[in-house]
Amino acid sequence: MRIAVVGSGYVGLVTGACFADLGHEVVLVDNDEKKIVALRNGEVPIHERFLPELLARHRGQRIKFSADLQAATRESEVVFIAVGTPPTESGDADLSYVESVAREISGGVDEYKVVVEKSTVPVYTSQWIRTIIIRDGADPALFDVASNPEFLREGTAVTDFLYPDRIVVGVESERAAEVMRQLYGPLTSGWYYGRGEAIPRPEAAKTPPRLIVTSTKSAELIKHASNAFLAMKISFINAVASICESVGANVEQVSDGIGTDSRIGSRFMNPGIGYGGSCFPKDLMAFRAVAKESGYDFRLLEEVIRINEEQRHRFLRKVRSVLWTFRGKRLGVLGLAFKGGTDDIRESPALLLVQELLREGCHICAYDPAAMERAKEVLKSGVEFAADAYEAATGADALLILTEWEEFAALDLERLRTLVKYPIVLDGRNLYDPAVMVEHGFSYYSVGRAAALTEETTARTLAKKKERA
Ligand code: UDX
Repeated sequence: MRIAVVGSGYVGLVTGACFADLGHEVVLVDNDEKKIVALRNGEVPIHERFLPELLARHRGQRIKFSADLQAATRESEVVFIAVGTPPTESGDADLSYVESVAREISGGVDEYKVVVEKSTVPVYTSQWIRTIIIRDGADPALFDVASNPEFLREGTAVTDFLYPDRIVVGVESERAAEVMRQLYGPLTSGWYYGRGEAIPRPEAAKTPPRLIVTSTKSAELIKHASNAFLAMKISFINAVASICESVGANVEQVSDGIGTDSRIGSRFMNPGIGYGGSCFPKDLMAFRAVAKESGYDFRLLEEVIRINEEQRHRFLRKVRSVLWTFRGKRLGVLGLAFKGGTDDIRESPALLLVQELLREGCHICAYDPAAMERAKEVLKSGVEFAADAYEAATGADALLILTEWEEFAALDLERLRTLVKYPIVLDGRNLYDPAVMVEHGFSYYSVGRAAALTEETTARTLAKKKERA
């Protein structure tokens, strides 16, 4: 099928590249000419696993790039809207980009098309898109609007797209439903999974996925409610972690015990320093605004947000209780991205903590495998950027683990021990077994587990001990 994808951010790029891999002809549209030129020249603007491979595979063949939305609409059967919906001051989504895209699409509706809303938007947006397209002169019989929310996690967006738990399609007509079924046919029929060239299957993936057809309003709510539920799971386990700390229980054991109940599930039950990113914080605010507008006071969401903020403050208090004073302390920081596997620092709890520590007068030496370039734009002074985790730890009064990168869970602890000034690790992501850290001579503080303490000998003492031995 011929499809246009408007907006070449995370969602648009991944959607376009994946549809091309399913055999469709894709034109990616963006009004930023510089971005279009860069994409045509082979640049990949985001750090996303398998995206460079897919773009390289299809660029100039099944993927084209264009700044002309009307022309792209004319030559496509399906037009995806994947532009940003940033939050306004009051927390609801700013839909002005969606509206201006709908206006332009209107001029290109010359034969039947399905216009698909892919950005995360509040309920009623599909209806509004239809109204705007008609208002701008398109024949109502020549198009339908569908809602097809994405459930892509940054870092695993490509495999999330190609091996989804389910595909949700909200429509108002059988004709539009049929177009959407055809579009996702390569996945729902299992055809894609038999291809030699398919992107490798993640371990837990069940194929083929189910396609769930709903009304547009239901699909819009499914997206907001899914993200709110996942955020609630994280805040729930973070709240439980706080109780574990007070009573001396171990949150990892508790989380395991809860999560193995199949009604609850073990995913998104990892305690830490709170959720961040471009979706959860924004979507919760937007969902709360949607609820309010519909006359429902969704106070549960407010509590989810409050627990999330508090989680970061708790961690900061923990650092303070270990270090006593902050001014002039040198802290090694591992992780700046809002989670592992991405270079995204939007609403990153790691970055917010670093900013707070800088305000308190700490000196930071930070390392992140992917997010340092972006972080440098925000963190102007008081921060050094290290070439690796060991350099960040060198001479540190304490080492802080703030992002759940896999490589941070596999450090050479012997080596680390000789580099730090004091053997203190504060782990905001529970990447290590406390007993193992103590064995390696570290005092180890994590989330929802008792601190594991050792005699805090300095690197100098350690060197002397070694000399004597
Ligand atoms: C999320 C949704 O998962 C995805 O379905 C949606 O389409 C977009 O928003 P993403 O923002 O990429 O995806 O990140 P996600 O993997 O969901 O993590 C969000 C945040 O929660 C991160 O800061 C992560 O560190 C944190 N998190 C996640 C936890 O603290 N504990 C967990 O158990 C899981």
